[in-house]
Amino acid sequence: MRTPLIAGNWKMHKTIAEAVALTDALAVGLADLPANRQVVICPTFTALASVAARPRAGIAIGAQNVYPEVQGAYTGEIAPGMLKEIGCTYVIIGHSERRQLFGETDAMVARKAAAVLDAGMTPIVCVGETRAERESGQAENIVLGQVKAGLSALSNRLSEIVIAYEPVWAIGTGLTATSADAQAMHAAIRGELRSVGGNQADTVRIQYGGSVKPDNVDELMAQPDIDGALVGGAALVAESFIRIAKFVK
Ligand code: PGA
Repeated sequence: MRTPLIAGNWKMHKTIAEAVALTDALAVGLADLPANRQVVICPTFTALASVAARPRAGIAIGAQNVYPEVQGAYTGEIAPGMLKEIGCTYVIIGHSERRQLFGETDAMVARKAAAVLDAGMTPIVCVGETRAERESGQAENIVLGQVKAGLSALSNRLSEIVIAYEPVWAIGTGLTATSADAQAMHAAIRGELRSVGGNQADTVRIQYGGSVKPDNVDELMAQPDIDGALVGGAALVAESFIRIAKFVK
């Protein structure tokens, strides 16, 4: 009932030429993607137009950030409509790196999610706890608080939103939540979504992120509430990302 979504977050990697080469390799490798799953790649802003111009049947394009205004005096920022114009259909919002390094708050995440929806794209809203929060038994409180603060103003549009649960301690570290721990958090997130937006909760895709690799993706995707993956490091290598997108369920 929920189509799994595999997303590649390229972060601040790849020149334009490298981004185009990776896109071309993915287009070949994913030409026979199994039915009933979707793939999106999220290059840097500077590579978006070149990547969008490549033939890439079935591979959608997303951005890694956005500013929640239509236009105006916001030096250095990019509006939702500009991303849409270039061919984006998804935008990653509230990634832990943005929360930690750039001070992105739940309130800003909420504004960005609304602006992305208003522009006709799908927000991928990231949530996740730090290692200290997990060790002190606060993981679920923190994550559900982020979900509530980020999405309660959008309670009638939940089914248009993708959530990515990314434990901060698992990002880029090679550490992954066990599939059981990940499933438990995904189920808790879905419970929170149910209290925010009722039965829409059953249609919201909740991705797992944090050191997803070819050798752990199948087990993660076998969990009932895990509906895809947000992939960083392993999305930069065609062979790994292709294998992840072709996870075996
Ligand atoms: P990682 O990054 O796969 O390199 O851990 C995931 C992310 O930050 O989205």
